[in-house]
Amino acid sequence: MMIDIKDRVKGAALQGKIVSADEAAKLINPNDKVGISGFTPSGYAKAVPLALAKRMETEPFKIDLWTGASVGDEADGALTRVDGINRRFPYQTNTDTRKALNSGHMKYIDMHLSAMAQNIRYGFFGDLDVAIIEAVQVNEDGSIVPTTSVGNSPTFVSQAKKVIVEVNVSQPLSLVGMHDIYEPLDPPHRKLIPLDTPGDRIGTEAIPCDPDKIVAIVACDIPDTTRPLAPIDDDAKAMSQNLIEFFQNEIKAGRLPENLLPLQSGVGSVANAVISGLAQGPFTNLSIYTEVIQDGMFDLIDAGKVTVCSGTALSPSPDGLKRFYDNIDEYRKKIILRPQELSNNPGIARRLGVIAMNTAIEFDILGNVNSTHVMGTKMMNGVGGSGDFARSAYLTIFCTSSVAKNGDISSIVPFVSHVDHTEHDTMIFCTEQGVADCRGLCPVERARLIIEKCAHPDYKPMLTEYLEKALAATKNAHTPMLLDEALSWHKRFIDTGSMKK
Ligand code: COA
Repeated sequence: MMIDIKDRVKGAALQGKIVSADEAAKLINPNDKVGISGFTPSGYAKAVPLALAKRMETEPFKIDLWTGASVGDEADGALTRVDGINRRFPYQTNTDTRKALNSGHMKYIDMHLSAMAQNIRYGFFGDLDVAIIEAVQVNEDGSIVPTTSVGNSPTFVSQAKKVIVEVNVSQPLSLVGMHDIYEPLDPPHRKLIPLDTPGDRIGTEAIPCDPDKIVAIVACDIPDTTRPLAPIDDDAKAMSQNLIEFFQNEIKAGRLPENLLPLQSGVGSVANAVISGLAQGPFTNLSIYTEVIQDGMFDLIDAGKVTVCSGTALSPSPDGLKRFYDNIDEYRKKIILRPQELSNNPGIARRLGVIAMNTAIEFDILGNVNSTHVMGTKMMNGVGGSGDFARSAYLTIFCTSSVAKNGDISSIVPFVSHVDHTEHDTMIFCTEQGVADCRGLCPVERARLIIEKCAHPDYKPMLTEYLEKALAATKNAHTPMLLDEALSWHKRFIDTGSMKK
């Protein structure tokens, strides 16, 4: 049965552009640079990427695929499986895509998410040929109301030579009004972005678009396939409790107000659990200035603890998405969705004094963080927004369980196997064991504190032994480091399946 989208496409001229997904996919040419909406598997184009992948099965060719962040299997997975992606920017979480980029089949450019839109406008990556944007509605003036994420869509629309809109009827019309679309001018004309509090609205409800640029409008009824979040385990509860105590001490010391400062929380199960734990905490009137809005944020909102929650994407679990739709009229009073250029803007993070809480794969005793690579070589997801916030936040916190893979890996190591955030960008480290507050400490002090507060008891003696040996060998150098041994922990895991000696 044909999906009727006439009531969501305003005006006869635009209604005349409604075509099938197969017809729209024919408008994409080999080697095109294609920017699609979507950020975490939310609000991503689905019907046209699926139709394009089908076309590539019989007519093999590749495109460059640009997105806000990760997108669902209908885009990343389907296009990867037909070997249809040459270059992929700027973040992904898809199993097949991860395999392809870790085996030389795809070129992946892992970027700070705040920087992508401006780098496109600066012309750093060449001209964008096509934008494919999921919408709840297209207005008569061509403006496009996005769905469950904004991401880079405003820039894809402003920069693309042609625009394809996917009107998704599974996305409720109550989303209209939740977005705040603003595209900054570029240097030397950039002005101060007039956003002083997380709740400020500074833009429009829809993405401006010249209606003549819209070459096709496609109907879609495929829902967002969001990613499940792991259940909240004891480690996550302990990390949350550790952070609550840390924040209470900061308030007592006069370094944070009673309602804290705007909170940012990263992606994944650990970050979700930490935020969810705050719902049981003593803090009220919290504001959120973040990138992704996961289930834990709904817990905080439902607990009546949040005044406003600004992000670029809803990133709930499948159950969380249902919860959002069921209570959308309440959530829309608190939630604002913005372009990632604003949600992750380092200048705004610094201006608002954001408290950044992101998850590390591993961190080292010197304070460097690896957010992206398993054992130094295999890309997991990408740096995402962690760097946008880490360097610019009022307080920057990295959380992780002290061990991974049933204790065979220590997430606290002598030296990280890949560096995403340097010792100069980090401040506070949190595991289920405790919190190491490294502000104002030199490398040796940091190393001692991180081992004492964050390392798992199974690995503390080994880390202490390494540190003492490094201090002796370097004659108390500023940064004690044994170059040959620093990465031997990872090598031991690769060779024997365990970092334990
Ligand atoms: N060494 C090797 N693997 C490790 C590890 C370590 N020290 N620590 C965790 N892992 C593995 C886990 O075993 C798990 O593997 P699996 O998928 O094969 O089971 C995987 O990493 C994810 O770990 P998990 O504990 O489930 O954490 P998560 O869901 O909270 O994700 C990150 C953690 C770091 C992968 C995720 O937060 C991320 O991609 N961060 C980078 C982007 C970012 O910070 N964005 C912030 C946006 S504002």
